[in-house]
Amino acid sequence: MNILGIETSCDETAAAVVRDGHTILSNVISSQVDHHRPYGGVVPEIASRQHLAFITEVVTQALDQAGLWFDDLDAIAVTQGPGLAPSLLIGLHAACGMACSTRKPILGINHLEAHLYSPILTTTLPDDRDQLFPLISIIVSGGHTILAHATAIGQHHVLGQTKDDAAGEAFDKVAKLLGLGYPGGPEIDRLAATGNPAAIAFPRSMLDDPSHQFSFSGLKTSVLYHIRRSYHIDRLQPGQLSPTDLANLCASFQEAVVDVLVGKTIRAARLHNVRNIAASGGVSINRRFRQKLAAACQQRHYRLHLAPADLCTDNAAMIAGLAYYKLKANPTGQHLADITPSIGLPDTQFIGRHTASQLP
Ligand code: KG4
Ligand code: ZN
Repeated sequence: MNILGIETSCDETAAAVVRDGHTILSNVISSQVDHHRPYGGVVPEIASRQHLAFITEVVTQALDQAGLWFDDLDAIAVTQGPGLAPSLLIGLHAACGMACSTRKPILGINHLEAHLYSPILTTTLPDDRDQLFPLISIIVSGGHTILAHATAIGQHHVLGQTKDDAAGEAFDKVAKLLGLGYPGGPEIDRLAATGNPAAIAFPRSMLDDPSHQFSFSGLKTSVLYHIRRSYHIDRLQPGQLSPTDLANLCASFQEAVVDVLVGKTIRAARLHNVRNIAASGGVSINRRFRQKLAAACQQRHYRLHLAPADLCTDNAAMIAGLAYYKLKANPTGQHLADITPSIGLPDTQFIGRHTASQLP
């Protein structure tokens, strides 16, 4: 079954064709990061205009690279939410237009649910599927930090999430305090590589809390207080610190985030007696996070599932991959495919499908 996935929830315009839920025939991502960089964050109006400008080209490229055309598709899947409403609307309207004109079924997919399953959807052969559950999956992105327990694809329960900033948001905000560019996560990852992670003792917020919740705003404030105390300003200018001091600050901050993410993931796996752990979302690219999570999993004999970088950040392959299982689970389901900008990750749910002939 060939499914075209479309993803426009934030600032990546993406389209992909995935066969039978796991064979990626194409995965095209058009990043808008250069357009948002001068503003230090994603500007919703710029994002939606860029999606509008590029969506047709991105979809065409995805079909071309897959060597397929609309007739060869079995369904079109599109991100419903969560995300920026104006951005989601561009993807949804493009998908509805294509579904209408080609009379293909259209499915709305929850972006976070797609992240949750992305490491196992796209990197594992179907024969291995039985071995993958139960699973603890951590989603660490710019907008979310979620720990979930899954027993099958589409069967999950949210254990906990962040009470304030997401992990990626903390990276981006701290990068601003350090006078670094946007997005901050990759910059901090790069600079931290030569720093001493024990140079500054930043707090490991909620690491010892018995809940599965996270909090990163206190850590961000600790970095601010450290800058104030040490340099008597609120925000560093580029080049203000010596390379060693900057590297040490980045490494110490990064270590605090990573220790919390890894510690709470391992604890959730132990409490729920699972053998599989997965991580997804932009922050899961972080090299220190991968290194420490892999070491912790190896030590305790957990199987770790990590996707390659282009499947960790926002992409449409994860949307098309999950859609295959949604379609299989409910081939005749008829639900409205509207956008859901502010619905997070509901516990096990079916989001929806209706056929082109039923569209208004
Ligand atoms: O999943 P994603 O592409 O988009 C969202 O759905 O949010 O994640 C983007 C986030 C940004 O906050 C970015 O700074 C962070 O992921 N990020 C990283 C790294 N690469 C991207 N954070 C830490 N280390 C990285 N290498
Ligand atoms: Zn995302």
